[in-house]
Amino acid sequence: MDFQLTEEQLAVRDAARDFAQNVLKPGVIERDEKQQFAKEEIKQLAELGFMGMMVDPKYGGSGMDTVSYVLAMEEISKIDSSVSVAMSVNNSLVCWGLEKFGNEEQRQKYLVPLATGEKLGAFCLSEPEAGSDATSQRTTAEDKGDYYLLNGTKNWITNGGNADTYLVIAQTDPEKGHKGINCLIVEKGMEGFVVGAKENKLGIRGSDTHTLIFNDVKVPKENRIGEDGFGFKFAMTTLEGGRIGIASQALGIASGAYELAKAYSKERKAFGKPIHEHQAIAFKLADMATEIEAARLLCLKAAYMKDQKKPFGKYSAMAKLYASRVAMDVTVEAVQVHGGYGFVKEYHVERLMRDAKITQIYEGTSEIQKIVISRSVLAE
Ligand code: CAA
Repeated sequence: MDFQLTEEQLAVRDAARDFAQNVLKPGVIERDEKQQFAKEEIKQLAELGFMGMMVDPKYGGSGMDTVSYVLAMEEISKIDSSVSVAMSVNNSLVCWGLEKFGNEEQRQKYLVPLATGEKLGAFCLSEPEAGSDATSQRTTAEDKGDYYLLNGTKNWITNGGNADTYLVIAQTDPEKGHKGINCLIVEKGMEGFVVGAKENKLGIRGSDTHTLIFNDVKVPKENRIGEDGFGFKFAMTTLEGGRIGIASQALGIASGAYELAKAYSKERKAFGKPIHEHQAIAFKLADMATEIEAARLLCLKAAYMKDQKKPFGKYSAMAKLYASRVAMDVTVEAVQVHGGYGFVKEYHVERLMRDAKITQIYEGTSEIQKIVISRSVLAE
């Protein structure tokens, strides 16, 4: 078992760290406050090759491994998880899904501009009544011969307002249940496709979360991914990879908060000494460091299994379940270490605490991860 990272992986981590510190940190509080999408910063991230990290260079990607992706996601998320969720969705759900299951024409037309960062992608599964229960899709894609007629509403769509390419999951044949679901590639600007209201959120406020409405949108047949009825399996398989991204985001939120708490504990004095010399604080830091290391190992294990082309769904669900719990616990403690300062925006930890909560909700709630894990371990 080799726990050593390669020179290449370390270089990716350092590049992501520099970018987060130098480009993202200066405006992160303001973006959070104003709910501003970091459009320019994401363009710069793409220039570093971070929007199509794992995509084959022949499709405009960086050809990196999933371990490098985890390292980059952690660093970006330490500072700005509104940016890292855009990065995660584009990399894991949209690019990976298109590369793995799209045909050559779809890859050339849609994957290349997404991997280079010229365009941005969105993954549209959730609906007002189909979040966790993903088979209950109400959005319909009626087969009209040459095209599908798409009707319905999608909710909580990350990158919803700023994306160019949308992977939309919809029901074609309700009698077939999940086997009647398709995934269609929808372009912004298609007639009848309306970007609806933007959500005003507790956390990841700089991320662009919208309702999307489809009114008789004609989507050409060639925009269907895979065979007829493949949409649900497409979504499930893609989410297995997506969970590695969100687990790494949770890890980054936790480690960002921990680093701030540790630094603060060395500066702040109380009762005549730096507060880290009080066991009450030192023990908190010990717990945080241990939990973060365990979460990091789970993220890297899931990434390693994916890179080895071995089944990784159980591991990505475990990583997501555990890292999101750690993100919540650690950020709450980091605010506590900061005392009153932790409650004000300038110290960053209150934002990390608000951002942590979404990692227990999106790409499957913690309860969904437990369904995936328990089914997997019980079948062993
Ligand atoms: N890979 C491939 N196929 C899979 C699969 C997987 N991981 N999981 C299930 N399937 C297949 C099953 O084999 C089955 O097919 P067959 O009948 O041919 O065998 C079919 O899919 C249905 O499976 P289930 O009966 O297990 O389905 P279920 O209704 O019990 O649901 C679930 C399973 C795991 C709960 C699933 O619904 C799920 O993952 N829900 C959560 C959805 C989710 O994560 N939503 C988040 C939206 S995306 C997001 O948040 C992005 C963002 O903005 C950041």
